[in-house]
Amino acid sequence: MKLTSIIPLMGMALSAAVYTGCVNASAETELDIDGDLAYCNAQIHRTLDELRGNSDSIDYTMMPRNMEGDATCWHCRKADKEEWCGGFWPGILWYNYEATGDTTIRKEAEKFTSSLEFLSKIPAFDHDLGFLMFCSYGNGYRLTRDPHYRQVIIDTADSLATLYNPNVGTILSWPRNVKMLGGHNTIMDNMINLEMLFWAAKNGGGSNLYDIAVKHAETTMKHHFRPDFTCYHVAVYDSVSGDFIKGMTHQGYADNSLWARGQSWAIYGYTMVYRETRDPRFLDFAQKVTDAYLDRLPEDYVPYWDFDDPRIPDAPRDASAAAVVASALLELQGYVLPEQSKKYLAAAEKMLASLGSDAYRSGDRRPAFLDHSVGHHPAGSEIDAAIIYADYYYIEALLRKKKLEEKHDVLATL
Ligand code: GLY
Repeated sequence: MKLTSIIPLMGMALSAAVYTGCVNASAETELDIDGDLAYCNAQIHRTLDELRGNSDSIDYTMMPRNMEGDATCWHCRKADKEEWCGGFWPGILWYNYEATGDTTIRKEAEKFTSSLEFLSKIPAFDHDLGFLMFCSYGNGYRLTRDPHYRQVIIDTADSLATLYNPNVGTILSWPRNVKMLGGHNTIMDNMINLEMLFWAAKNGGGSNLYDIAVKHAETTMKHHFRPDFTCYHVAVYDSVSGDFIKGMTHQGYADNSLWARGQSWAIYGYTMVYRETRDPRFLDFAQKVTDAYLDRLPEDYVPYWDFDDPRIPDAPRDASAAAVVASALLELQGYVLPEQSKKYLAAAEKMLASLGSDAYRSGDRRPAFLDHSVGHHPAGSEIDAAIIYADYYYIEALLRKKKLEEKHDVLATL
């Protein structure tokens, strides 16, 4: 069913909060999914106008990535093996096409998506192939059933599988960092990219892709978490013996701190692995990593970028982690007992209400959906910024909520 009730928010005053170290959305903000999707649609059209500039054409190889500081225009990066975020903008366009049925948006989605095809034909650079190709081609195939898209995804999954080390039982996330990190490294973000392997195995690819994804999830479950079910960002292994050497951070505050987006990848990842395997070990684990995160959230349910930053409450929030978790919880709530289901659904609604409030919206000020995300704090980049993956998981979560309200499965296509 197509949404037909989207009314452009022309003229609506959308004030954006200026970051002061303490963002607080009212927990009482009412959730209006159609209104939130209309807001996203309006921001997408603003972005397309901005990308067009004064000409009639768009450079479809340049993908919106972030807006830092006072920037009011997207900083774009060229689609490239080293630019891990290139798939999110095409993915946003596909979701918006799903929400609106607007064929002009579909055409834009197709053009941005095809700029990434070369990545299916070159040796794997790192694990980010999943983010790059499944957010773009994966959503494209889901909505169009174009067999060419399916082949591109299978080829990419085969390429990602070349990074798997059977001695360790995980994918080598960052081949370029083996020396720097002291061995075979696997990062929590890599959990998300297993989805492309599962999908390819079900859609014409080899069954080895399923086996690799399951083994990666098992090995990660065993070594990548502390006893309280919070995760390290990076796990380092001996590439020959497969022994776990150490857990450490790369983008978090400290090796033993709880980096919010790392935990959000774990929540989303194990929920998805349960969906694909129906193995109750993974469901139990998804709930444990979720509860460890929910227990420590601030009042508005948008986490500080790292739960252990000593500057809290003056540390920046990470709207991207909130968007990832909101989307994951909308799926997870469908797999658990009624009491837990209610709790996860209520938490997701609270997250979406906060993100949809003026405290987190980019609004009039700039054409992203959300402000207040943190990319790589230790490197000093994308701190309290609008970042494209926050927008991707936000619109995904809105659509999941919309589907629930219309009594569809959250993974269905509208
Ligand atoms: N590397 C993925 C992230 O920043 O979460």
